[in-house]
Amino acid sequence: MRLDRFLGNLPRFNRQQVRLLLVAGRVQVDGQVARDPLHEVREFSRVELDDELLQAGRPARYYMLHKPKGCVSATVDPQHPTVLDLLDVPQRDELHIAGRLDFNTTGLMLLTNDGQWSRRLTQPQTKLPKVYYVETERLIDEGYVARFAEGFYFAFEGITTQPAQLVLLGPRQARLSIVEGRYHQVKRMFGHFDNKVLVLHRESMGPLSLDNSLAPGQFRALTAQEIRAI
Ligand code: URA
Repeated sequence: MRLDRFLGNLPRFNRQQVRLLLVAGRVQVDGQVARDPLHEVREFSRVELDDELLQAGRPARYYMLHKPKGCVSATVDPQHPTVLDLLDVPQRDELHIAGRLDFNTTGLMLLTNDGQWSRRLTQPQTKLPKVYYVETERLIDEGYVARFAEGFYFAFEGITTQPAQLVLLGPRQARLSIVEGRYHQVKRMFGHFDNKVLVLHRESMGPLSLDNSLAPGQFRALTAQEIRAI
């Protein structure tokens, strides 16, 4: 919400008073004087007027998890362990997953309570590359590279996938960079060649790479720098 609306919603100030408070530099958001009426106030923002706290702001939380095989990218599941079960943190039910992975896919998973941040990470429009290590049942040849760059038509969604970059690493190994996150996207792309994906591991999402010191199932909070990078 805009700062002027936030202040105007308080019963004690009319529009003119809000304007004067801002001009006088009496309002602080997250410890900084905010004079711009359009300054964004979020549920996580701390808002102060002189020495009075108007909103404490909920803490925004961001975690990186090394997702192991055999757990579901969901918050609850009647049968299987979920990725949230692995996160031993308070109020974990407030968190959501930024970019799901299949049951047997491993690698980088990001969880947060900040919807704006996770949207920036996952929206195809922001074109953040998601990089996967892939092993397949059958041989991968050079012909795949151009086909992945051209895009595949996904009839269910009625879309053609954005150009993807495939780098061959071995006869059945590749690294794939895609900017979307369609349902089973990588498996469907290789499925076009009738080539089954046997191993799928997400190495990075945009500027964030899986921390190699995290064993499967381990997690850590993101650093301030990692949070700002998105
Ligand atoms: N593409 C898939 O097919 N599966 C995943 O888990 C992630 C991307």
